[in-house]
Amino acid sequence: MEFKEGLTFDDVLLVPKYSDITSRSQTNLSTKLSRNISLNIPFISANMDTVTESSMAVVMARAGGIGIIHRFLTIQEQAKEVLKVKRSGSVIIENPYTIDQDKTVQDALDYAKEKEVSGLLVLNSESKLVGIVTDRDLLFEKNTLHLIKDVMTKDVVTTKPGTSTEEAKEILHKHRIEKLPIVDESGTINGLITSKDITNIEDYPSASKDQKGRPLVGAAVGVKGDFLERTENLLDAGADVLVVDIAHGHSENAISTIRNIKKAFPDCELIAGNIATAKGAEDLINAGVDAVKVGVGSGSICITRVITGSGVPQLTAVMDCTKICRDHDIPIISDGGTRTSGDATKALAAGASSVMIGSMLGGTDESPGTVLTKNGKRFKVYRGMASLGASLGRKSKEAGSISFDEDLNDYVAEGVEAMVPYKGTVTDILKQLTGGVRSGLSYCGAHNISQMQNNAEFIKMSRAGFAESQPHDVSVM
Ligand code: XMP
Repeated sequence: MEFKEGLTFDDVLLVPKYSDITSRSQTNLSTKLSRNISLNIPFISANMDTVTESSMAVVMARAGGIGIIHRFLTIQEQAKEVLKVKRSGSVIIENPYTIDQDKTVQDALDYAKEKEVSGLLVLNSESKLVGIVTDRDLLFEKNTLHLIKDVMTKDVVTTKPGTSTEEAKEILHKHRIEKLPIVDESGTINGLITSKDITNIEDYPSASKDQKGRPLVGAAVGVKGDFLERTENLLDAGADVLVVDIAHGHSENAISTIRNIKKAFPDCELIAGNIATAKGAEDLINAGVDAVKVGVGSGSICITRVITGSGVPQLTAVMDCTKICRDHDIPIISDGGTRTSGDATKALAAGASSVMIGSMLGGTDESPGTVLTKNGKRFKVYRGMASLGASLGRKSKEAGSISFDEDLNDYVAEGVEAMVPYKGTVTDILKQLTGGVRSGLSYCGAHNISQMQNNAEFIKMSRAGFAESQPHDVSVM
């Protein structure tokens, strides 16, 4: 039997190359997420229940990356998260929420709360726009049984289809309003422009967007049960890309799921994983995927290697998949084990087009969960999706309740539950990550990621080399 050598980020360094870059702003981080989708930064937030729901996905898209909404939600909940991302940043909201003028204030309050919006357009019995109700109209209305038609703002300023962003800005400014419905000649609502969305667009020039100018968002599906129904609902909600999410992606389960999804939804952009070998990548490519997710046992909360003895050190896993993926023009996502911008740079230099991140983005304002305090320090929970806690959580969601004893006997966890320090907003972390990778490109004498991949020369280092690479012989403040 032959032993292969497996290396990971801490085993190597990138050899510095001549660089003509004089400022990090000369570097370009745009990359391919999948066959047909591009990103402006090579970062993806992990489809984990302590990392990505709509808040995280919105910020990831604004920064130029993408978030993948995890699948441990009901189909309706997950589709709603996708929709929230889509509605968070389009210039024109295509199907604004509406309410009948004969409904009550309470109905409007309930509906606005359910949809998490601050205003509703009001329709008459012929579905024509007759008014608008916003937070301001509703909040201090003491009698919640009042009819909407009695409390709404009636003289709504509207515009016609085809209004440009600049024209919309002028109208919003002139009338000092925040919402501008688009209404055609017959009085039918065609959409809604809000000042918040226009501001967002101007504030985030590198945002990753779909063809309608809405933020990109992805969502994960599993390989069992309702995955086709889930796929359909997520695509209907506007998901740009789906991720077939299974720990052992080089498996019949994954391959048949990819085939079934591609057969039922041929236009669905599909990522699948996780795999850790060239053969794994090849089999998923042959099944029809548009990108492969590489990483088995590398994640910070993974114990797959401990429990099963299986896995491949992350850098070698990426490198092994590079040739076959390049031959088929299928991007690689390096998933797991990224602790620093240096790790991300090494993954990209080794052949990944983007990097999926969990723990670095956990513990932020945008990650799901509450901030806990322990010994005066603030934390958030970050857990493996194959941890016992995550498994119990989702079983109780699916089945209503379960017997703890029963499950403990059945379940072999391949992930742990952990706490990560509270870190504030993801935006700051992404700035550090992208800044580090930009500098990394410069050290490789590269202006962009594909140049870095061509220029990259890795050098293996000894334990002494690794120790020398860390701060040493000083007390770090
Ligand atoms: P990082 O290192 O960024 O890794 O925290 C995130 C990735 O870890 C994977 N993941 C798991 N792997 N058991 C595993 O073996 C688990 O319970 C588990 N949960 C997540 C996943 O690929 C994620 O993107």
